[in-house]
Amino acid sequence: MAEQTKFLLEEKDMPTTWYNIQMDFETPLPPVIHPATGQPIGPEALMPLFPMDIIMQEASVGPYAARYIEIPEEVQQAYRLYRPTPLIRARRLEKALDTPAQIYFKYEGVSPVGSHKPNTAIPQAYYNKQAGTKRLATETGAGQWGSAVAFAAALFGLEAKVYMVNVSYQQKPYRRMMMETYGASIVASPSRDTNAGRKFLAQDPNHPGSLGIAISEALEDTATTPDTKYSIGSVFNHVLLHQTIIGEEAQRQMEKAGAYPDIVIGCIGGGSNFGGIALPFVREKLLDKRETRIIAVEPTAAPSLTKGIYTYDFGDTAQMTPLVKMYTLGSSFIPAPIHAGGLRYHAMAPIICKLYDEGVIEAVAVQQLTVFAAAVQFARLEGIIPAPESAHAIRVAIDEALRAKEAGEKKVILFNLSGHGHFDMAGYQQYFAGQLQDYEYPAEEIAKAIAGLPKVNA
Ligand SMILES: Cc1ncc(COP(=O)(O)O)c(C=O)c1O
Repeated sequence: MAEQTKFLLEEKDMPTTWYNIQMDFETPLPPVIHPATGQPIGPEALMPLFPMDIIMQEASVGPYAARYIEIPEEVQQAYRLYRPTPLIRARRLEKALDTPAQIYFKYEGVSPVGSHKPNTAIPQAYYNKQAGTKRLATETGAGQWGSAVAFAAALFGLEAKVYMVNVSYQQKPYRRMMMETYGASIVASPSRDTNAGRKFLAQDPNHPGSLGIAISEALEDTATTPDTKYSIGSVFNHVLLHQTIIGEEAQRQMEKAGAYPDIVIGCIGGGSNFGGIALPFVREKLLDKRETRIIAVEPTAAPSLTKGIYTYDFGDTAQMTPLVKMYTLGSSFIPAPIHAGGLRYHAMAPIICKLYDEGVIEAVAVQQLTVFAAAVQFARLEGIIPAPESAHAIRVAIDEALRAKEAGEKKVILFNLSGHGHFDMAGYQQYFAGQLQDYEYPAEEIAKAIAGLPKVNA
């Protein structure tokens, strides 16, 4: 029989529910704390930012206190523009590595904007439209999230304003134009449009920006503009919830392939694509006592899990958010301008942090040059040019396949290919020209940032 490469689902077989892992935690997530009072805050504190459905999903309350959450029909319809996404067996990579391991990847780059991000931008736009919101404000690092919001806002007839981290704004003009094509307005962050932006520009008129600063600007915009709500691309519980469609599909597709992964791998910026592929497998690990290794891959330049500490911190640089317990490098963290712009966040999704703290998942940090080497090897064998973010997962999938070869073990490896790199060619060009460097976030910087963390007795 011919070797099968792609494992596809029919539209009618697309999962119709998201998986809410909060229902399967033995202890709840640590409370979110008000920075002034030091007391836990309730979901009502989020009302200026999000519509009620999103808030209830975030807190896992009301109709959303359920293990499986029905995906609204209009959201399913929009998902069907690109879902179900393919599961592909990387047979050529397996052969080139001469490994007994099987390597599968779930390919989220087939979405209109080229990544997993619309999986949550679509429901966020939908719930906002239902609630009467007219305009969404958001930030974007690499441009993938901003593109997803611009696309989803267009689908549901909302305006969108995107604060794009300055280095990415400069590196990726075509991402900007893509967002404009969908009808969104874009500014480089820090911008002159907000008080937070003006403050950082006063310190440095050529400020490279950071995700933390762009978040501060989008939050201020939301608070000061009528009919506007905030949309976030990662970190929050509801975002990870929406992304579980990736893992739910992947499980059905792995079944079609007649295999179950020994190792599940995803890159992590704020934790959403990793959570998306991993959480359904975490469920089987927790409930069915599967022995799956689940590995989150971060850059050595922003090593939140592997070098950060698990404590309360702000989610943004201007310290406007409540305090959340996360693995953090400190909210003052300004990352090196490495090319995986989407992985440059100082902290990590609380759900992922809890799983890491409890030893359910593992984390590893990898250097930029070895990531690009893996990306190029993968492109030349499998054809897809990955986003530099996603290439972090490829690096570790290759490393694990080589380890399986050394051990003579037939491991089944599944990784999430969160996006394509068609707008990241400047990064590839610099890699080929030998202009990229490895970057390890200095231990003394981490110590300094951590010393400045807020004190909370929770
Ligand atoms: C292609 C791609 N993968 C991964 C990420 C990292 O985000 P997250 O950890 O939320 O998946 C980004 C963020 O912009 C991205 O664009």
